Amino acid sequence: MVIASAPGKVTLFGEHAVVYGEPAIVMAINKRAYVEVNLRNDSKIRVIAPDIVIKGVVLTFDQNIFSVESEVASARSELSYIVKAIELIAKNYGVFKGADIRVWSEMPVGAGLGTSAAITIATIKAYSEATGLDLDKKSIAVLGWQTEREVQGTASPMDTSIATYGGIIQVQPLNNDINIERLKVPMKLPIIIGYVSREYKTKDMVAKVRLLKEKYGNIINPIISAIGQVSRKARISLESGDLKEVGELMNINHGLLEALGVSTKQLNDMVYAARKAGAIGAKLTGAGGGGCIIALTLEKHESVSLAIKSVGAQTLESDISEKGVLIE
Ligand code: MEV
Repeated sequence: MVIASAPGKVTLFGEHAVVYGEPAIVMAINKRAYVEVNLRNDSKIRVIAPDIVIKGVVLTFDQNIFSVESEVASARSELSYIVKAIELIAKNYGVFKGADIRVWSEMPVGAGLGTSAAITIATIKAYSEATGLDLDKKSIAVLGWQTEREVQGTASPMDTSIATYGGIIQVQPLNNDINIERLKVPMKLPIIIGYVSREYKTKDMVAKVRLLKEKYGNIINPIISAIGQVSRKARISLESGDLKEVGELMNINHGLLEALGVSTKQLNDMVYAARKAGAIGAKLTGAGGGGCIIALTLEKHESVSLAIKSVGAQTLESDISEKGVLIE
């Protein structure tokens, strides 16, 4: 039996623009997804994810055919990351063995905290370890990105890279490769996460921006480049410990994301409530269309948290996780 875990994340800067090759800055949080792999004697893959989908869902993957034993409409999309990851290990490395797989998560699923990427990366780690494949972190990150692209159609390597490496990193996609640089941030980032349920999936939000970009290229392209410039500048502010500037850049980033059409009234309400209560910066984080915001606070931690709750959202206490994917 092998258990691997990988962290969720908040995107500090650069979501959506990273899909078009701009750098993004992302931080791993101390909430993790876990995947347990027990090899079987046959060639079936059975996936059980009681917390994530519904109690007792079993999928089988037999001779390249993926079937749901106890039918649940959402099971396919939620668990297809696991099956795709295993399919790609089989294709890329010629290794396939049947296994019972159990998945659980400390993060709400679909909130924009990178749960599907954390599950993908933990699956690759646990399954490769159980089958005797020795994959380094770079290979795990590249395989994770390939998995997300094949499941979602479009995906940047951001979520899968942070789930692999942990810490705070700058991620930039380079054709089929990924440039990953670890940031040295000299202090803790006092961040509060606010979240509401999501109305849209990441895939839909990415498609929405793509349509806008196709229709208004000469307007949207400069916005995407401006987000890239925000991320570059924010890296300098983070590494020099200038939190006031980090907060200002978060506010600019939120405005640019709003212009891309990915914010919602609820996200804006949380962002403005947090700023009014003393946050030095606040922005939506992740794909938008509902989901999460992050607020940077210096000393008004409690009042910012209450202000976010007062507009009908929940808050999540979280800290940075230096640990990426690991065997438990
Ligand atoms: C989703 O967490 C972030 C997006 O930039 C999509 C992606 O990077 O694949 C919206």
